[in-house]
Amino acid sequence: MALPRAALGASTQYMVTLSTPRDTALHAAVARAMLAPSVHNTQPWQFRLSSDGLDLFIDRSRQLAVLDPTGRQLCLSAGSALLNARVSLAASACPVSVRRFPDRDRPDLVARIEASIGVATDPVLAALDPVVELRQTNRRRFAADPVPAELVATLVSAAAAEGAVLHPVVHNEDRQTLARLSQRADAAQNVDAAYRAELRAWTSNDPTRLDGVRAAAVPHVDGTAGDDVPIRDFDSQGAGWLPSQTHSSASQCLLVLATAADTPQAWVQAGEALERVWLEITRAGFVASLFTQVIEVAALRAQLRDELRLGAHPHLVLRVGRAPVTAASMRRHIGDVLDDRTDQRRVSAPLGVAGSSP
Ligand SMILES: Cc1cc2nc3c(=O)[nH]c(=O)nc-3n(C[C@H](O)[C@H](O)[C@H](O)COP(=O)(O)O)c2cc1C
Repeated sequence: MALPRAALGASTQYMVTLSTPRDTALHAAVARAMLAPSVHNTQPWQFRLSSDGLDLFIDRSRQLAVLDPTGRQLCLSAGSALLNARVSLAASACPVSVRRFPDRDRPDLVARIEASIGVATDPVLAALDPVVELRQTNRRRFAADPVPAELVATLVSAAAAEGAVLHPVVHNEDRQTLARLSQRADAAQNVDAAYRAELRAWTSNDPTRLDGVRAAAVPHVDGTAGDDVPIRDFDSQGAGWLPSQTHSSASQCLLVLATAADTPQAWVQAGEALERVWLEITRAGFVASLFTQVIEVAALRAQLRDELRLGAHPHLVLRVGRAPVTAASMRRHIGDVLDDRTDQRRVSAPLGVAGSSP
């Protein structure tokens, strides 16, 4: 923003440089990235905006030590944020290139997004921008509407566009297997005191808290739900607002997201695929529930892979359907996650003082 000189006063004249359209678009991309889903709404990301472009880092101080010691969920969450940034930049018609893990000496650097002349923006990604704000995790019961086969095909293509595999679980035997393994994982986790303590730490009834899962977004757990594919019990304080009956059933639309490799890079890629699929679900007027208990217990994850004959490494289970809107989850302030080094350049030294620009 350029301020008129006269407005600055004679004795304190500052040179103010213009914020470039590139910086404006990258700044907007951070605001959209922050709306991404993340495990327990930990929002484990940090951004740095500089003349080099926009860097996305994993914030390891927000990693879930008990649930996620390897960092799979951390990388999935960061990958989802990266996809939102790409969507935003495509919608701003800002041509960019994305370098993933460009620097092996800095393992927490997930990606660098750079302005790139001559690169075409992706209209398919751009079309997802209006629903970034509408996407949310559903933990309510679904209406009876079936999920159209055409939508499932769109979701499979969306995952493939990000180099991942979305596997619809259609055979009855496979559905029962998925339900059985999910129940075993959920039960094993719930008897672990450390897991329960971590869950409690990330669940809140405090309306001023800007991270964690809100009581307003989870079912009240009273032991009567009896779900085939159990929704994680976030109601650690008995304060869940949503109805106890969630009817999470093995006969609903169930999808497993997987990738060929099982490395941190593949987890980021799976996160990008997750968010692309989820935005397509939202655009079609449907909602999704996520289940990762069966992924978090290593032996059961391996069993899921073998028994469902996935031929790839599973990272998430999605349940798709229609349900009413839930209260929105909270997000931290942009100033807490963005180190904007372009700002420092906008206001430079008082005019006439040589060599003191930052
Ligand atoms: C990698 C990952 C794993 C998740 N696992 C679960 C889960 O097992 N159960 C669940 O209810 N939600 C799960 N979620 C959804 C998050 O809790 C949710 O994204 C977060 O609370 C923010 O809410 P929002 O998606 O409505 O914006 C997961 C999200 C991510 C990205």
